[in-house]
Amino acid sequence: MIKKESALPIYVQLEQGIKELIEKQELKPGDSIPSEREFSETYQISRMTVRQAITNLVNDGILVRERGKGTFVAFRKIEQKLKGLTSFTENMKARGMLPSTKVLDLTLKQADPYLSKMLVVEEGALIYEIIRVRYADGVPIALETLFMSNDLVPKMTKEQAENSIYEYLENQLYLKINRGVQELEASVSKKEESAILGIKEGTPVLRIQRIGYLADGRPLELAQSVYRGDLYKYTIELER
Ligand code: GLP
Repeated sequence: MIKKESALPIYVQLEQGIKELIEKQELKPGDSIPSEREFSETYQISRMTVRQAITNLVNDGILVRERGKGTFVAFRKIEQKLKGLTSFTENMKARGMLPSTKVLDLTLKQADPYLSKMLVVEEGALIYEIIRVRYADGVPIALETLFMSNDLVPKMTKEQAENSIYEYLENQLYLKINRGVQELEASVSKKEESAILGIKEGTPVLRIQRIGYLADGRPLELAQSVYRGDLYKYTIELER
């Protein structure tokens, strides 16, 4: 892995060597990597050099350091294009991952002034509030709170909410979801969210809000989600 006569600095060679091990899947996400001492003894290089290589890989998000535990290969983030109005189920399936959902709460409540404004309904109108944990291959990725007017969606059961709600709205209720406005914000996880998502309180997260509209312009849903920042990233395609 290390060629002392090479013009490439040794820490760069070590970085490349570790990256290659990850590419070849000899080191897999979640695996711990050898300690600084082991690297330095194996390759007869200084611990400072090893530390520099590892720090660079941590800064690039390829490795993660966990205090008191060691350094591990990071999990690849799920990459989502900010284009097209897709559902969580569609997003995960498109990546060859198995989506699943746990419904934490499903209630009908009366619209407060905020919901009445967002969903363009009268104050006091009945609104479904659905709180779901969304998983990809069994790993919790996001916590979602969804508000939908009871007028547009007369009956929503726990079973339906455990599956794709978009599919239900489109294929059973024949609603045409046509466009959405989405906001993304950097944030950190709150205590209750952290417990549900299996992360430490204060971990970076993305807060995403979507208002989805029907073809006739009526707002169908207000969705407020918290996505794990360590597992999810967005890419935006720009044209000029
Ligand atoms: C995404 C969107 C939500 C939408 C949900 C539907 O998570 N941010 O606005 O309600 O997908 O997902 P599904 O059809 O998988 O229930």
